[in-house]
Amino acid sequence: MSNLAIINATIVTPTGHSARKGDEMAHLRIIKEGAIHIADGLITYCGPMAEAPSATTNVQVIDAEGRVALPGFVDSHTHLIFGGYRPDEFEWRLKGDSYMSIMERGGGIQSTVNATRTESAEALREKAEWFLSRMSEMGVTTVEAKSGYGLSTESEMKMLDVINSLATDPERKLRIVSTFLGAHAVPKEYKGRTAEYVDLIIREMLPAAKGKARFCDIFTEKNVFEIEDSRRLLKAAREMGFELKLHADEIVTLGGAELAAELGATSADHLLHVSDEGVRRMAEAGVVATLLPLTAFALKEPFAPARKFIEAGAAVALATDLNPGSCFSGSIPLTIALACIYMKMSIEETITALTLNGAAACGLAEVTGSLEVGKAGDVAILEFDNYHSLPYYVGMNCVRTTIAGGKITYNANH
Ligand code: NIG
Ligand code: FE
Repeated sequence: MSNLAIINATIVTPTGHSARKGDEMAHLRIIKEGAIHIADGLITYCGPMAEAPSATTNVQVIDAEGRVALPGFVDSHTHLIFGGYRPDEFEWRLKGDSYMSIMERGGGIQSTVNATRTESAEALREKAEWFLSRMSEMGVTTVEAKSGYGLSTESEMKMLDVINSLATDPERKLRIVSTFLGAHAVPKEYKGRTAEYVDLIIREMLPAAKGKARFCDIFTEKNVFEIEDSRRLLKAAREMGFELKLHADEIVTLGGAELAAELGATSADHLLHVSDEGVRRMAEAGVVATLLPLTAFALKEPFAPARKFIEAGAAVALATDLNPGSCFSGSIPLTIALACIYMKMSIEETITALTLNGAAACGLAEVTGSLEVGKAGDVAILEFDNYHSLPYYVGMNCVRTTIAGGKITYNANH
């Protein structure tokens, strides 16, 4: 593998090997006239150019010309694999239908399930590759991808196999973390028999998903998987060695955040309607609050209370929630804009949330999420030399070069 040296960079990065919590989220290390050396995919030097060891032979040099170098972004919550599209539902929602009412009449997740079951693994993979390329262009170097549109053992495993075939592709552009989300909805064949479907997941799907997924996630929601079913499933998953995630308190206040804290989940996600007690317990238990502003925006819902989490001392991550239904967007620039404009997060907090804390939400804070010796050579070089410009360019992609594991995966053509 070739070596890389980034010179003349304004390095902007959180530091550490675990999520940054509360006030710590605003602390960034800033190095003007900095250099980053990457060998065999890992950072071997990150600091002032003046103190950098002299470059060895065989080094590709990237002159950043003073521009900002950030850790590559981590999109820690996506539904990357799916069959079909749902533009009709989007229009119904514009005309006043609610997300849950569409789901209750058999649309929503079930409609994507029907399409995913019939689509071939190759077709699913091809579609995902298109999104992965778009993500690279926005500086993303790690992405979490969920199953959850199969809802049968066979189709869920098909989805996980697609995720893993992308993750292990030697040509891959990003690191991919796999999550099993068999409990995304109750499939139509189990309508009214939620507990039996949970039994099926525990008996058949979880053992089959072992080794194919690192995390087990669930849509904990009123009239989907309520607290008792969620607890039962997540406990079984934990016993089988899965780390835990929850879609929690997205549509109504149900106690998903409290359950995440009780079970020591890695993250609880969405949290638009989290209770104050849920915020407190998540902070206490060290559960990462993964907030998904694009979903709130697309569903015209109130944004999650980012400031409450930060003030309670919790770690906040930001992610896109890319999926064909509630939020058909993987836009990192728009996520940044919404976090800064509507969620009152500072740009420093936003950067930490999209890098180190996203990595922590994927169980990868020791591997990526900051520019430090020993971490992966995952870097996003921006167009400008001042990171404060990130939210100012509202919704515009300002990534010039993306480097993942020491390889250039995107370079803007000017
Ligand atoms: O994170 N809320 C549940 N799951 C997704 C939406 C999935 C879909 O609508 O297809 C979410 O918002
Ligand atoms: Fe989601």
